[in-house]
Amino acid sequence: MTEFLLISDLDDTLLGDPAALRRFSAWWKKHGTCARLVYASGRFYESIAQSITEHDLPAAHAVIGGVGSEIRLYPSGEWIDAWREDLSRQWDLQAIRRALQRFSRLELQPRQYQSPYKLSYYLRDAACEELESVRCTAEHSHGPVEMVYSSQRDLDLLPPGVNKGSAAAFISWYWQYRKRQVIVCGDSGNDLAMLQRRFRGVVVANGAEDVKHLRDPDIYVASRSYADGVIEGLDYWLRRESPGNKL
Ligand code: GLC
Ligand code: MG
Repeated sequence: MTEFLLISDLDDTLLGDPAALRRFSAWWKKHGTCARLVYASGRFYESIAQSITEHDLPAAHAVIGGVGSEIRLYPSGEWIDAWREDLSRQWDLQAIRRALQRFSRLELQPRQYQSPYKLSYYLRDAACEELESVRCTAEHSHGPVEMVYSSQRDLDLLPPGVNKGSAAAFISWYWQYRKRQVIVCGDSGNDLAMLQRRFRGVVVANGAEDVKHLRDPDIYVASRSYADGVIEGLDYWLRRESPGNKL
């Protein structure tokens, strides 16, 4: 049985088709015995934990929450401190918030989606120029920031270098997996950083066009949607394993 690490997004990747999710749970029971599982989401730990219970998802070993701004073990909720300590360097949320006040189209997301290390807005159908202008303004007053735009609606500002990709790289290193042993799955903008880290990537068929158009030998675009697409991608990458071609 192969040792691998699966890091998967939840909303519109594993979640979205309950029958497909049941197939994924059965798949995981059979093939995931030597593997570890991490859910990576824009939502925070408590909300992810609630989804795990509500949808009867396979229990994860850890959770990457808030677009990479938190990494916590599951089910203890224990923080991985080395990651948390790094976040507070070069980060002044209030300075960014003040600087962005002049953008009337930016609408602050509700309080439950905010944290000391994640500042999130709604910005519907933003063009590249508008996004660049937001970035320039934030960076002019604050210095470098990480900016993630998803679903033509969600705009997240995070400490520099923090995203699902860097959090996935951190946890792979922390648990000593090689890049080739890590399979990452996603569907939308906040998954791009994770898909472009040279892990083995899977994009589900219902994914956003810009994510499905990634052309990279390390990214498999599934023909099936939601959790069925995840199963298809896992089968694709795990089939590639042979004695001479190890994950
Ligand atoms: C989740 C979060 C939201 C974030 C979005 C995209 O929906 O709740 O705050 O903007 O993911 O990352
Ligand atoms: Mg998603």
